[in-house]
Amino acid sequence: MKGVILAGGNGTRLYPLTKVTNKHLLPVYNKPMIYYPIERLVSAGIKDIIIVTGKENAGNFMNLLGSGKEFGARFHYTLQDEAGGIAHALSLVKGFVNDDNVTVILGDNIILDDISEHVSNFTSGARIFLKEVKDPQRFGVPEFDENQRIKRIEEKPKEPKSNYAVTGIYQYDNTVFDKISRLKPSARGELEITDVNNMYLEEGKLSHSFLKEPWLDAGTFESLLEASNILRERLNKTK
Ligand code: G1P
Repeated sequence: MKGVILAGGNGTRLYPLTKVTNKHLLPVYNKPMIYYPIERLVSAGIKDIIIVTGKENAGNFMNLLGSGKEFGARFHYTLQDEAGGIAHALSLVKGFVNDDNVTVILGDNIILDDISEHVSNFTSGARIFLKEVKDPQRFGVPEFDENQRIKRIEEKPKEPKSNYAVTGIYQYDNTVFDKISRLKPSARGELEITDVNNMYLEEGKLSHSFLKEPWLDAGTFESLLEASNILRERLNKTK
């Protein structure tokens, strides 16, 4: 299993914090944001991790993270020239993933559940991770049938068919790259990861799990502060 952290984007919602640096390098309580997805992958036993970022701050990522030795991992880096969506960013790491399976995390998603079992049990197809949310229209949203199987996933639906969000952690076998190569850009001009997930669904190869711990994204002022506060509280409890 290889690991991918997607850490591109312009961070416009966090301007001017992101005027001279990348969103994923900002602090979330006592660590740079990107440490959280890295630690999630490493603690699940994933040692080969590639970080996809934009060219403006690529050097800062390398200065901060280095070879990965400090984390007990091997880091690789690649550049996304323009923002083309999550699926586009993932397509850039085809050569790195090669014949392996892959776990992908969005760099501003803080996942607190241990995913070790999902990593060791994964064989083929795809797995998504769901969390109940108050504002599903901001996310990819699954529609369930009467047997609680997913019928379809809709990206940012105006009228969501459930209260669950597809979170920013995904597992794929290496047919993902062929699927991405068949995608057409969406109305927002991006290659959508939701379309990839629906392709697996049509093949009957999409499974899902529910996250039990809080799921935090840190891409807005409010969520960045909330994430810092929650992590501070959790850390103090364990002291
Ligand atoms: C992306 C995905 C969406 C998913 C979300 C999780 O949204 O397109 O399906 O629910 O990440 O954070 P975006 O960040 O591109 O708005």
